[in-house]
Amino acid sequence: MSKPHILLARAVFPEIVDKLARHFHVAANQSDVVWTQAQLIEQLKGQHGAFTTGGDQIDAAVLAASPELRICANMAVGYNNFDLEAMTRAGVLGTNAPDVLTETTADFGFALLMATARRITESEHYLRAGRWTKWSYDLFAGADIHGATLGILGMGRIGQGIARRGAHGFGMKVVYHNRSQLASDVEADLNARYVSKQELLEVADHLVLVLPYSPSSHHAIGAAELASMKPTATLVNIARGGIVDDAALAQALRNKTIAAAGLDVFEGEPQLHPELLKASNVVLTPHIASASIPTRLAMANLAADNLIAFFTGQPLLTPLNPGVLTAGLTAQPSAPASRT
Ligand code: GLV
Repeated sequence: MSKPHILLARAVFPEIVDKLARHFHVAANQSDVVWTQAQLIEQLKGQHGAFTTGGDQIDAAVLAASPELRICANMAVGYNNFDLEAMTRAGVLGTNAPDVLTETTADFGFALLMATARRITESEHYLRAGRWTKWSYDLFAGADIHGATLGILGMGRIGQGIARRGAHGFGMKVVYHNRSQLASDVEADLNARYVSKQELLEVADHLVLVLPYSPSSHHAIGAAELASMKPTATLVNIARGGIVDDAALAQALRNKTIAAAGLDVFEGEPQLHPELLKASNVVLTPHIASASIPTRLAMANLAADNLIAFFTGQPLLTPLNPGVLTAGLTAQPSAPASRT
């Protein structure tokens, strides 16, 4: 019986490679080369499944060049690297990695908020540079977290995790804006009030962005939105680059339109807007919100388990476009069918 062929598009824990190798012929990119689109297309030739991360773009051109491809399992909750409509049209399943990262990511969102509002990295750089010569009443005085108004844009699982930390741990009032309003018992538990996006911008002492990236959320925070925020406010982005207009943010930080920002994601990452690198009132981290070892392992296992489930005829754990299955394609583990 021939095993399906799987591409592991980026390096991953060796135990995940071993697990996949028990079920599949695995082409593993353990040297972790970041492929161009042309290289990805080349690597996908003859592959029936792909284990992808958020940087691997599965678009119409990739799909057209990969007729054997049946499923892409993303080791990320966000899947804006998938052209899901094109995948569905091509009969290619997509899966993501929700839930397993919720608490770890909410921990990090809160950590970034604390570090930003209390100027932790800025003051550490000052100290390491040997510039600390005396105590002063206003040395790195920042904003309070406890009792403040926490704004959340995008109140899904991670947003609710951050709200819970703020309300239960720090006595914060929570205001949020989302596509849909939470049930009233959930709002009561989170001390949360649903508001318009404009009110959110105006009343939040600290605003955390946790919404998914899509063309409609592109530059959801730009110059006009930043101008609506309090000059003492903190902005935290753990969602996706492109949700914030980084050029407008760099200018707002320079002009003190807002007090500070904490950013884990960037437009065009891993490149950063050069003005952000120059600003002292911003905390910058390299897209690590879900990066605890247990959580990254759980995310990788979930992606691997989706591939294994599909090719052994079991239900997918976290499908994004399950309609592809009901449209007639089924897994054939011994002889994976081409889509053509
Ligand atoms: C990380 O950004 C993710 O979407 O999991």
